Formats: sequence, C-alpha cells, structure tokens
Amino acid sequence: MKIDYKINNKITSEEVIMIFKSVGWNKNPEDILDAFKNSYYVTAYHNNKLVAFARAITDGNYYTSIFDVIVEPQYQKNGIAKNMMKMLLREFKGTYFFLSYTEGNREFYEKCGFEDLPTGMWMDREKSFNLDIDNL
Ligand SMILES: CC(C)(COP(=O)(O)OP(=O)(O)OC[C@H]1O[C@@H](n2cnc3c(N)ncnc32)[C@H](O)[C@@H]1OP(=O)(O)O)[C@@H](O)C(=O)NCCC(=O)NCCS
Repeated sequence: MKIDYKINNKITSEEVIMIFKSVGWNKNPEDILDAFKNSYYVTAYHNNKLVAFARAITDGNYYTSIFDVIVEPQYQKNGIAKNMMKMLLREFKGTYFFLSYTEGNREFYEKCGFEDLPTGMWMDREKSFNLDIDNL
C-alpha cells in the first residue's frame, strides 16, 4: 500500500474530524484546526485521502509532547503510526519526549522506544476548566 506522508500541509477540519470520528473520538470542528496549526503535524494519505495523523508540541530544544496519533481503522496494522512517530522523533531528536496513552496502546509506544515515566502528573481539561484556582 503506497502511503504519502506530509508535514504541516493544508488540511480541513472536515477531514480531520472524520479521522477522529473513525476511532470514536469527538473534537470540536470550531477549534480543531487551530490546535493543529499550533502544532507540528504529520499526515498520511492513501490515494489523496487523509487516513492518519500525529502531532507534536515542542519548544524545539528541550521538550516535545506528542498527541493525537490516529490511524483510520481500516489502515491500521500497516506501520503507518510507527512511521509518523519516527518522523516526529527524527525532527525533534535530542529533546525529552512526553506522551500519555489511551487504554490498550502502551505497547505501541513501547515499540517506538518510549518508557514508563515514574514521576509524572496531569490535570484533565474539564478539571482545569472548573478549577477554583484562587482557592488552591
Ligand atoms: C494505536 C494506533 C495509532 C496504532 O496505529 P497502527 O498504524 O496500527 O500501528 P503500526 O502498524 O505502526 O504498529 C507498529 C507496531 O506496534 C504494534 N501495535 C500497534 N498498535 C498496538 C497496540 N494497540 N497494542 C500493541 N501493539 C500495537 C504493531 O503490531 C506493530 O508491531 P511490529 O512493529 O512488531 O509489527 C492505532 O491503532 C489507532 O489509531 N488507534 C486509535 C486511536 C488511538 O487510540 N491512538 C493512540 C492514542 S494514545
């Protein structure tokens, strides 16, 4: 299967939302493109159709975080996600990389060279929205 990979290319919110939907994730069409534009992203195409993407947010020198690594179900298990991860790892080689994974995907990231982080914390989006910051 011939897959074409691109970097920070022109994408539409419709095609991006379709990929999210294909794996059961809902994203807001109003702001999803802003999130991509503020990221470094890799896209994968089969016959000019977007079938996968992955994105990173980085300071370019020290820290890189990876988000939204998604391959449309019918294209999974063809090495597409690993190829996209390799592109991100190459581009930001020498930085610390961070990511969080969803249930069942730990092994995929392990195969991409990642290790468990013994010390790490996070706050989810809803909590940060509702957090009473003044009274922390
Ligand atoms: C997880 C996901 C991105 C993997 O994409 P993919 O293109 O099928 O993965 P690849 O074909 O590049 O897999 C690379 C290797 O990881 C393995 N692998 C992939 N997904 C795996 C999983 N969930 N569990 C264990 N191993 C996995 C593959 O078998 C392959 O192993 P190999 O190199 O020994 O042959 C894809 O299943 C997906 O989009 N899932 C839904 C969205 C999602 O959950 N994304 C991750 C968010 S944390």
